[in-house]
Amino acid sequence: MIVLQEVRKRYGEREILSGITVTLETGRVYAIAGPSGSGKTTLLQILAGYEHPTSGTVQARKTLRLEYAPQDFLLFSNLTVWNHLRLKAAARRLQERWEERAHRLLADLGIANHCRAPVGTLSGGERRRLQLAIALLPPSNVLLLDEPTSNLDAIASEQVWETLAREGAGKTMVICSHAPIPARLEPVRWQLRGGVLDVE
Ligand SMILES: Nc1ncnc2c1ncn2[C@@H]1O[C@H](COP(=O)(O)OP(=O)(O)OP(=O)(O)O)[C@@H](O)[C@H]1O
Ligand SMILES: [Mg+2]
Repeated sequence: MIVLQEVRKRYGEREILSGITVTLETGRVYAIAGPSGSGKTTLLQILAGYEHPTSGTVQARKTLRLEYAPQDFLLFSNLTVWNHLRLKAAARRLQERWEERAHRLLADLGIANHCRAPVGTLSGGERRRLQLAIALLPPSNVLLLDEPTSNLDAIASEQVWETLAREGAGKTMVICSHAPIPARLEPVRWQLRGGVLDVE
């Protein structure tokens, strides 16, 4: 469970989040929609701990293992796809069998044939899927996913939703997306507008 109380975020004079109070229940999927610039990424960054709220609190168990797939790519163009996963495995101190899992994720997401390619040679959609594979590789109980299907065609988007439905089972997921999130993920649908979250 993650509890947000009166979370506000200002950048200079502009108030982006205007006092958000919500509870994220363990194991549920939350779909956050809202116009461009409404603060979806800002809210995810606060949940991920990358940004601090101007005021208000975010409370979560210290033992939560959280993974974040950002909207803007955090990738190294000279490093291969595989070495990105290797780096993540090292950062999270993953033990044996992570390679098997990494191969499976790449296959499920449809980018296994790019395993040895430097990221600089990948398309936007291929980078998007790598960013997701990196977030999905380690064990986690919270997944924060920012626009997981942007840059993707219908078939690749479907591969992503299928992979998330399987890999995300039992995890709390917060997904910001302009594209509709399939009903089979049974998301709680929220709209972020004017700095507040409305349940749809
Ligand atoms: N570091 C920052 N400094 C100043 N303003 C910022 C900063 N980060 C975001 N903003 C502003 O906050 C607003 C919300 O941005 P955010 O990226 O959260 O929107 P979003 O809902 O994710 O949009 P999109 O759908 O386009 O991804 C924008 O107007 C943006 O310009
Ligand atoms: Mg955004």
